[in-house]
Amino acid sequence: MWIDDLCQACKGRLIGKEILSFSKIDSTNREARDRAKGGAPEGLVILADSQSHGKGRLGRSWESPPGTNLYLSVILRPPVVLSDAPQITLLAGVAAARALSDVSGLKCLIKWPNDILLRGKKLAGILAEMEAEGARVGFVILGIGINVNWRREDFPADLGVKATSLRAESGKEISRAAVAAQLLRELEKEYTAFIREGFSPRLKDEWNRLSWINGKEVTLSLPEGEISGRA
Ligand code: BTN
Repeated sequence: MWIDDLCQACKGRLIGKEILSFSKIDSTNREARDRAKGGAPEGLVILADSQSHGKGRLGRSWESPPGTNLYLSVILRPPVVLSDAPQITLLAGVAAARALSDVSGLKCLIKWPNDILLRGKKLAGILAEMEAEGARVGFVILGIGINVNWRREDFPADLGVKATSLRAESGKEISRAAVAAQLLRELEKEYTAFIREGFSPRLKDEWNRLSWINGKEVTLSLPEGEISGRA
């Protein structure tokens, strides 16, 4: 069972020290949020083989068919003020881009704020949901969806041209356990560094280095008019 391999790989760590896996769930973010509200510890991972109501950003849905991709949510309890919470999304982007590049050997990049792109198409998405406790963060649910082994012919028509998967790009099946283990390892590295050092110059440089927009022609629409240039 690939979940057992993943649990083994995460032994002794903060993120993934406990992993609850479901064959089908409405949304791993919903489940993680309910458990966090009930006092579940930092580092708990909720993972599902499929989701009936996978949530994307801006009220969108996240396609979550069974037996092929990765859908997981992590409970974090960062000791930071509310204004620093968005930095968690940024560090998760760095961790995800690095992990996905490592396992596939292909260059994965971040598109602001938190899409992971491969060859210009969306490979993964991050949905961070926060609960405040006064002026501080109570908990953050970090939800990540990754198109791992989805075959091009199985993509829904509306996603076909915009989305991709590791398998569609590499031409080979990729172990979900390996992808999840590398993702949680990189997340642990970046999250513990963030707790120690905050949003460090190193992390900022790393984010910029992985940013998809580098070198692209861009146009800014400002109240004073448009400015074009190379990012
Ligand atoms: C996006 O819109 O790009 C963010 C997508 C996030 C999807 C993941 S899948 C696991 C977790 N559970 C959810 O319901 N959503 C996130």
